[in-house]
Amino acid sequence: MIKVINRVEGSYALGVLCSDYPDRFIAVRKASPMIVGLGENENFIASDVTAILKHTRNIYYLEDNEIVVLQKDSVKVYNTDKEEVKKDVFTVDWDVSAAEKGGYEHFMMKEIEEQPKALQNTISPRIKDGRIVLDDISLTARDIKNINKIYIVACGSAYHVGVVGKYLIEKMCRIPVEVQVASEFRYCDPIVGKNDLVIVISQSGETADTLAALREAKDHGARILSIVNVVGSAIANASDDVIYTWAGPEIAVATTKAYSTQLAVMYLISTYMAEKLGMLTSGEYARLVNDIEALPDKVAEILKSKEDVQYLASKFYNCHSIFFIGRNLDYAVSLEGSLKLKEISYIHSAAYAAGELKHGTISLIEDGTLVIALATGRELFDKTVSNVKEVKARGAVVMGVTTTEHTNMEDVADYVVKIPTIHEMLLPSLTVIPLQLFGYYMASLKGCDIDKPRNLAKSVTVE
Ligand code: G6P
Repeated sequence: MIKVINRVEGSYALGVLCSDYPDRFIAVRKASPMIVGLGENENFIASDVTAILKHTRNIYYLEDNEIVVLQKDSVKVYNTDKEEVKKDVFTVDWDVSAAEKGGYEHFMMKEIEEQPKALQNTISPRIKDGRIVLDDISLTARDIKNINKIYIVACGSAYHVGVVGKYLIEKMCRIPVEVQVASEFRYCDPIVGKNDLVIVISQSGETADTLAALREAKDHGARILSIVNVVGSAIANASDDVIYTWAGPEIAVATTKAYSTQLAVMYLISTYMAEKLGMLTSGEYARLVNDIEALPDKVAEILKSKEDVQYLASKFYNCHSIFFIGRNLDYAVSLEGSLKLKEISYIHSAAYAAGELKHGTISLIEDGTLVIALATGRELFDKTVSNVKEVKARGAVVMGVTTTEHTNMEDVADYVVKIPTIHEMLLPSLTVIPLQLFGYYMASLKGCDIDKPRNLAKSVTVE
């Protein structure tokens, strides 16, 4: 094995059996995830903790090119100099039931329903006596004041959290933020340096492009703060500071509770930084903290009327193409709503900044095209309503998503989904819930493989 790994290039996670040694199993990894599960009279290798949770919670995390020799009753780890390496046992505290369907037809619905609890677990340990306490990070008020620029780097839905993060941080902290998908950031020769903060977001903590982007930023001397769900993962280990989302294991490929808890952490970070920068009055700060704490209950409230969304899905699941529009934070959520829908229901969908429609997209609207218009904020509500009128005039059928405070959406949209009110900055956490449900029900009505959509993987460890 040592001879082999000295010759092969690229990333790999190998488990090798040899008929001459039927009692042992040799494994090695490089830049691909692999863990060792330590059982009783049985040992395991797996790419992810959730795969072995039923059998053991004790694991070894492996470094690149550490070679593991597994037997039924022993596990030995060596380096490439054939010296034995002593590993620390890491005990996973995830609940086994979290990796089982528990009566639900799909993990995705179970995870959608788990969001209030996941939010609670992520938020409540970080709010003490009405103040946000981020014990997990070492970023001082002075460090925050010295930040020149913030980059947010991630892939997929985690990138969409970054888009929300940009609006939040720029508005609340007045620090310039650039949000980029990791596969672009790593190859664009980023102008990033030691006075910059790079926020890396990843559920798995193993996404190859995100990890590579992190390393690129680190090589340039930037400080890395990551938002990660899997404790001990590669991204968590490579960061200066980590804020964990306590979403528990997420099994469905299409993320829901990880996305929601990442958003919650984004609110905590932006409010924390804005307060340290003296950008919030004590009243504004108190209101934000109070409303962040209210998020789990508000999400639970929306989930109570999930059948309303199911009804809407039953009207539209034969559509071939669906558009999402919104402005600012609503635009950021549109991106996620559109991704949720297309990745599991295979219906083509695109999200557009509502003001950009007239620059091309509107030519795609014809009689019966479904447009899902998000108009939740106060400031831009009327602007989005005019875009709704524009698409209606071209024959679109419009489903509006707005808060209970806006009563005139009904005048322009064919169908309206209402979410409760909350601090404007926190609306994405509520707006996304009906969109997750819509994607789920559309896929379910079409008979799609919801938890394992075609061609997709949960942890993307290839570049
Ligand atoms: C995959 C998943 C997405 C996820 C993305 C990033 O594409 O299907 O749901 O957002 O990877 O994964 P990460 O683990 O880095 O958040």
